[in-house]
Amino acid sequence: MEPQSRWWREAAIYQIYVRSFADSNGDGEGDLTGIRERLPHLAELGVDAIWLTPFYVSPLADGGYDVADYRDVDPRFGTLEDFDALLGAAHDLGIRLIIDVVPNHSSSAHAWFREAVAAEPGDPARSRYVFRDGKGPDGEQPPNNWKSIFGGPAWTRLKRPDGTPEQWYLHLFDPEQPDFDWTHQEVHDEFDDVLRFWLDRGVDGFRIDVAHGMVKDPGLPDIAEGAKADLLDGSTTLPYFDQDGVHDIYRRWSAIAASYPGERALVAEAWVEDANRVARYLRPDELHQAFNFEYLTAPWDPSRLREVIDGSLAANGAVGATTTWVLSNHDVTRHVTRFGGGEQGLRRARAATLLMLALPGSVYLYQGEELGLPEVTDLPDDSLQDPTWERSGRTERGRDGCRVPLPWEDGSAPFGFGPEGSTPWLPVPEGWGALSRASQRGVEGSTLELYTRALGLRRELDALGDGAMTWLDAPEGVLYFEREPGVRVAVNLGGETAEIAASGEVLVSSGPVAAPADGSLALPAETAVWLRG
Ligand code: NOJ
Repeated sequence: MEPQSRWWREAAIYQIYVRSFADSNGDGEGDLTGIRERLPHLAELGVDAIWLTPFYVSPLADGGYDVADYRDVDPRFGTLEDFDALLGAAHDLGIRLIIDVVPNHSSSAHAWFREAVAAEPGDPARSRYVFRDGKGPDGEQPPNNWKSIFGGPAWTRLKRPDGTPEQWYLHLFDPEQPDFDWTHQEVHDEFDDVLRFWLDRGVDGFRIDVAHGMVKDPGLPDIAEGAKADLLDGSTTLPYFDQDGVHDIYRRWSAIAASYPGERALVAEAWVEDANRVARYLRPDELHQAFNFEYLTAPWDPSRLREVIDGSLAANGAVGATTTWVLSNHDVTRHVTRFGGGEQGLRRARAATLLMLALPGSVYLYQGEELGLPEVTDLPDDSLQDPTWERSGRTERGRDGCRVPLPWEDGSAPFGFGPEGSTPWLPVPEGWGALSRASQRGVEGSTLELYTRALGLRRELDALGDGAMTWLDAPEGVLYFEREPGVRVAVNLGGETAEIAASGEVLVSSGPVAAPADGSLALPAETAVWLRG
């Protein structure tokens, strides 16, 4: 690939949820070959890189974020040869590829955990995970009051084969996802080696799962009554998130990545609320980027958005890092639905996309947002797979609604996701043929064409991507800014047409907009526009 300086600083990175992208063999699950076959679509869309969610050997208790073997591909998703073929094909198209690394926890099916369970308390095999005796006379109380992010306690008690209860182990997520003990040197060495395994194969970087979670307060103190144990809410200080020690790990990983030829990017998934705390992960000798969850969770509100944009740019700029923008991923309700659903949700989502793609820095797109897919809110109960559903006592439906397989063709289910007659792992809604790629490709005004046009302009115009922005005066409800040279971006978040001082050519708009006349532009409600000149 062409050498390019710090490519991640302005890349459009497309997230592939492997299980739901394209199923080449008809087993109902997406796979690596399916992705390879569809790469030309991503090249046409105009993305610079893809990020693959975990495809490693896994019981899929948490969609693959429960890894049983970090150095192999789950047979459902393919083989290492399929991975190499995919990576090679992506590089041939000029698309970089980053993969997920899941260092906070493994699967309970991992060889180390099995060994730990078979060993006696105090055995070194147990020290790779967080095993503790319980409290109370018979150790029947968990070691502390930590809660699992998926509901219920964060500790599970082991039983011997004869049923005698013994120690407890920590799992911030599902019981099938035991937390590693990062005070143990072997854990560090193992992940150094896992990183090298994939770097040697040629990956362009890693997305680091629960990047703020590996180091725990050594005293394992109780959390405050009422503290929120929610991955998506970084507002509470917790003794297992964002501890200072985690930064030492990233200094080391950064050196490993830098020791490889080319430019390998490290991206943090750190649900930490304060932008200045997030920026600490991006100091020059640590990671390169972090997902901007403050932006993702910002409501449809111009002053809040402006505050988040300014805050993010300032915090990241202070450590010399680029800012990222993201509206959706596999853990949150799709933004068409978050913004109100239906026609209004889509109108807002399209405007939000043009805003995001014009901001300084890089963007993460989640598969299907280029089709304007909504959240599927009516999946049958018996199809739900997210552990949240069972762990919450079936009160929270979880994240399956944003993970429904992609529609590629019109016609009937599975709409080209897999071969005709195959049954996808989650049902695809009947109406999704109309949203498929084939139904939108080349159709003026479609969401797919909007993304393709905007991503193309973003590549073509020097003004976009990395750089600075300047806010311009605008009526209430409108965000208006300039990217130099020569691009102005206006987003009307309000419910009425707004008049803004503007001239020049309309490069792209999220809905119908008449060209400016006499120095003024009538910008319809919930619409965004990029102007030149
Ligand atoms: C964050 C991932 O994005 C999510 O899907 C997963 O459940 C947790 N980390 C645990 O690995």
